[in-house]
Amino acid sequence: MTSEKTEPKKRRTFLDRHGALERNGTLLLVASLLVVSVGGIVEIAPLFYLENTIEDVEGMRPYSPLELAGRDIYVREGCYVCHSQMIRPMRDEVERYGHYSLAAESQYDHPFQWGSKRTGPDVARVGGRYSDEWHVDHLSDPQSVVPESVMPKYAFLKDVMLDGKYIQATLKTHRFVGVPYTDEMIETAQADFMAQADPDADWDGLLERYPGAQTRNFDNASGVSEMDALVSYLQMLGTLVDFSTFTPDASR
Ligand code: HEC
Repeated sequence: MTSEKTEPKKRRTFLDRHGALERNGTLLLVASLLVVSVGGIVEIAPLFYLENTIEDVEGMRPYSPLELAGRDIYVREGCYVCHSQMIRPMRDEVERYGHYSLAAESQYDHPFQWGSKRTGPDVARVGGRYSDEWHVDHLSDPQSVVPESVMPKYAFLKDVMLDGKYIQATLKTHRFVGVPYTDEMIETAQADFMAQADPDADWDGLLERYPGAQTRNFDNASGVSEMDALVSYLQMLGTLVDFSTFTPDASR
């Protein structure tokens, strides 16, 4: 005797329906495009409504002409190959280097100097950590201060004198890509460039235009050298924002 068993009616599962997509290339393509567009719109659309993706932070200002020239030397010499300028918000980094880097702190960097490798330490907040003299000695012959250092020597920077001939054009170029240099700053660029490292100069105008700029003879030698420019840049790195009063804007 045979008993007839009726199979319970099978419900079509989600996977069965998905089979249709897997068997039909065109359908799969259209569906993928749809999914990717939704994802893209969700990420991109808000950017059109935000006025600025970078929070304004008190203390940030464009680089002074001398600092900007120092930054150009930093880029020219490839310091970014061994040094990062980006302190990540992780405890070990914050304890070693200081407050994590804010987006605003590189808002006037074209191109940014975050770097991608640390053969040497992060330098985002190296400003004020050492004396000018230490920097000059270290850049001239790193092994004289840190015997095990693998950093190359840059002693020639002391001998290359600068006259700021091109600094006005450099400022103009930076304004072209969005750095808010005023007409006055561009007008006085070369004079400000020469004044910052000259102990006999009148710094009032310079300090009004670039609050917090450090003014002194950085390499302790006469004239403005590439060493002056680079040390003025290193000494201001990470010093513009006062982290004893900084509070992140919670409305964003
Ligand atoms: C080949 C890799 C390399 C290059 C290129 C390099 N450095 Fe270094 N740098 C190091 C290493 C390694 C150290 C750590 C040992 C020492 O202090 O010399 C260091 C240390 C430093 C420090 C001290 C940082 C601290 O917090 O103690 C500064 C400042 C610095 N470098 C600036 C520069 C500048 C400016 C340039 C470009 C002109 C440069 N370095 C190019 C490898 C490099």
